[in-house]
Amino acid sequence: MAGILTLKSLFSFCFLLLHPFNVAFLSLAELKDVMRHFSSVGVSNYTTLTLADSDGLLYIGAREAIFALSTSNMELQDMILWEAPAEKKTECIQKGKSNQTDCFNYIRLLQPYNSSHMYTCGTYAFQPKCAYIVIMPPPS
Ligand SMILES: *[C@@H]1O[C@H](CO)[C@@H](O)[C@H](O)[C@H]1NC(C)=O
Ligand SMILES: *[C@@H]1O[C@H](CO)[C@@H](O)[C@H](O)[C@H]1NC(C)=O
Ligand SMILES: *[C@@H]1O[C@H](CO)[C@@H](O)[C@H](O)[C@H]1NC(C)=O
Repeated sequence: MAGILTLKSLFSFCFLLLHPFNVAFLSLAELKDVMRHFSSVGVSNYTTLTLADSDGLLYIGAREAIFALSTSNMELQDMILWEAPAEKKTECIQKGKSNQTDCFNYIRLLQPYNSSHMYTCGTYAFQPKCAYIVIMPPPS
């Protein structure tokens, strides 16, 4: 069963009201810059990228986290930490998986669902789990 992840409740920064969607073209070079930036702060294994038209954000799935970047300036607007809980990690280790590489929540799917939610799935320490992410509508 899918749970709900909310940007508001799990978010560790101040919540920012987002600007209406501006058309933006992202070059590969810009994306590489973003990846380099995240690598430098110790985030690894980005696997998913998706653009949510309704809030003008680029969502990036990584290891135990989802980032939302502004498409106009590529600045970090939001992040959700979505970690596999300790007991799932323990079970994963008991199954002989590695606590260094396997027993984390790797975001594997991230896609727009409807105008208010995105849908995401993660490996969740070898017990895959999906959730909805509440996105903010652009201010009217
Ligand atoms: C995560 O990234 C590291 C370094 O690039 C790689 O060795 C590892 O296989 C990746 N793990 C997963 C589960 O994608
Ligand atoms: C992972 O397992 C090794 C050996 O079992 C242990 O020494 C290490 O502290 C563990 N690391 C973490 C992050 O739990
Ligand atoms: C989008 O889907 C979620 C999850 O099913 C639901 O709770 C929400 O009401 C839906 N939003 C709209 C605008 O239909």
